[in-house]
Parts: sequence; structure tokens; C-alpha cells
Amino acid sequence: MLLQVLSLVLGVALQDNAALQTNEALHAQPAAETSGRAEVLVLVSDHGSGTTNFGDILNTHPCILDVGEPFGSGYMLWTTYSQPAECAAQNLTDHPAMFDADNGKLEHADNPKMTREINDVLTRQEWNKGADKVYYNIDSRSLYVNLTYNLAEYFVRIRDLVCAHVPASARDLCPAANCSIMLKMFPVYVDGDTVIDHTPSPGHAACQAAQNVKAMKAWKDALHSFEMDPKVATLNFERNELDRQFSNFHRFTSIGTEFDCNCIDGL
Ligand SMILES: *[C@@H]1O[C@H](CO)[C@@H](O)[C@H](O)[C@H]1NC(C)=O
Ligand SMILES: *[C@@H]1O[C@H](CO)[C@@H](O)[C@H](O)[C@H]1NC(C)=O
Ligand SMILES: *[C@@H]1O[C@H](CO)[C@@H](O)[C@H](O)[C@H]1NC(C)=O
Repeated sequence: MLLQVLSLVLGVALQDNAALQTNEALHAQPAAETSGRAEVLVLVSDHGSGTTNFGDILNTHPCILDVGEPFGSGYMLWTTYSQPAECAAQNLTDHPAMFDADNGKLEHADNPKMTREINDVLTRQEWNKGADKVYYNIDSRSLYVNLTYNLAEYFVRIRDLVCAHVPASARDLCPAANCSIMLKMFPVYVDGDTVIDHTPSPGHAACQAAQNVKAMKAWKDALHSFEMDPKVATLNFERNELDRQFSNFHRFTSIGTEFDCNCIDGL
């Protein structure tokens, strides 16, 4: 039942995203004529799908910088909304978020995880090796000046900030005009919950379903902002759901625990 709801919620997201990609293809040509190419690639996906490996591969190109996963529930989310009534008994912790999804109000004008990712990606580039290696410590506050509730704009600002710090010595490999970044977009950024709880407390499934219905609005807002921005391209990165669940299980569950394949029957 939980899985039916979950797959329904994610299924809608993926269908919408397929529609976005179609639209993108339709107006790729005019966008290219007016404002140039896309400079930000967003991998629309979820944990355990293999996006880290994919990012590592693209990052071997000297001018595609993989900023990775700039939000996480233990750090900062892009947006959260007020808890649905179904969750009252669950005593959930509110995650800190930049925006309140219900009204688009800026709550936090900083994201420490994002700052770390920005510095890491520049520090680990192939062209930043040897005796002159620079350990970046970029002040990312400029990202938040007059930032509105628009994730695409935030990502483009990140691209501009990262690319402005590619040193002159690397400009033959990565001219300013060619510099691009890659980022992941996961449901957790908008407080969606796609984790399967193997020992759910009473009411957990109803709470999770209600939470995901709310998260869909913010998720769609984010995908829509990507669609509207010619500097942003999206790639839907999907993995067989059973393999994805197993990957997360393998990574996060203690040794000796048995993987419950039946939990996937609903899919
Ligand atoms: C809710 O969570 C808080 C913090 O974890 C805890 O102190 C409190 O006892 C919990 N309340 C209930 C009713 O479980
Ligand atoms: C931010 O908004 C204020 C008030 O509208 C404006 O004066 C200022 O120029 C803006 N700053 C930037 C960097 O856009
Ligand atoms: C930069 O992009 C242009 C246009 O796509 C391409 O012709 C050129 O080879 C690129 N330069 C580098 C160093 O990759």
C-alpha cells in the first residue's frame, strides 16, 4: 500500500519530467540561437541510482564540474512545507530549509553543504594538481542576494560562481564560455520521503504518503523552473527500483540484516 502510493507519486514525477524533456527538445533550437547553450546539467534522480558514478565520469571532462548533491536532510533542504495533519502523531523533526514551500519565503540565506561542494569540486579538479594546488575557500554569500524561490536560478548562480574561479592557467582546457556544472536533483531536497521503512510505526505509511503529496508541488515547481531556464538541461536518471532499494540497503543497513525483497511487491 505504501509502495503503491510511493510509486504513484514518483510515477507522476517521472511522467512530468518526461514531458519536460520533450518540451526542452522542442525549444532547444530557439534557446540556442538567443542565449547560447545550457550550462547546468541537472540529474533528476534519487539515492542509490548510480548518479555518483555518472557524475565522476562526466567530471573527467576538464570543463564539466560535478557539484554533486548540494542538499541533504541533515544539512539544509531547498524547501519544506508545514507537516500534514497525518503526521501529527509521528513527531517528525522539521528539516532546516532555505524556503518555506507553502509561501516561497526565504528562511535561511546560506547552505553549508552547497558551500562545501563548491569548494570541493574546484579543489579536486585534474587541472588543480601538483605544487600549485589551490585549496578553495570561496565565500558563497553572493548566491543568496535577492534569491527568489527558483531552484534553476540558484543553480545558474552556482555555475557562474564556480566557473568564475577556474584559474587562468586552466583556461585553455576550460574557457569561461565552455564551463558547465552538473548537479543532482533528489526528492529529499523538497522534503519528499522515498525511504522504505522496514519496521514502520503505526501511521507511518499514511504520514509518508501525505508528506509526498505535499512534496509533489515543490518537486513540480523545481522541474518547472528548470524547464523555463534555457541555461538548464535535465537528464532523468532511473534505475530498476529493486536494485535501487538494494543499493541503499547495502550501503546503510548493518551487517547480518536480511534484505526483504517482498517490500518491492507493490511496484
Ligand atoms: C518527540 O521528539 C522529541 C525530540 O526527539 C522528544 O523529546 C519527545 O519526547 C517526543 N515526543 C513524543 C510524544 O514522542
Ligand atoms: C537586491 O535588491 C535590492 C532591493 O530591490 C536592490 O537595491 C539591489 O540592487 C539588489 N541587488 C542585486 C545584486 O541584485
Ligand atoms: C569550447 O566550445 C566550442 C563550441 O562548442 C568548441 O568549439 C571548443 O572546442 C571548446 N573548447 C574547448 C577547449 O573545449
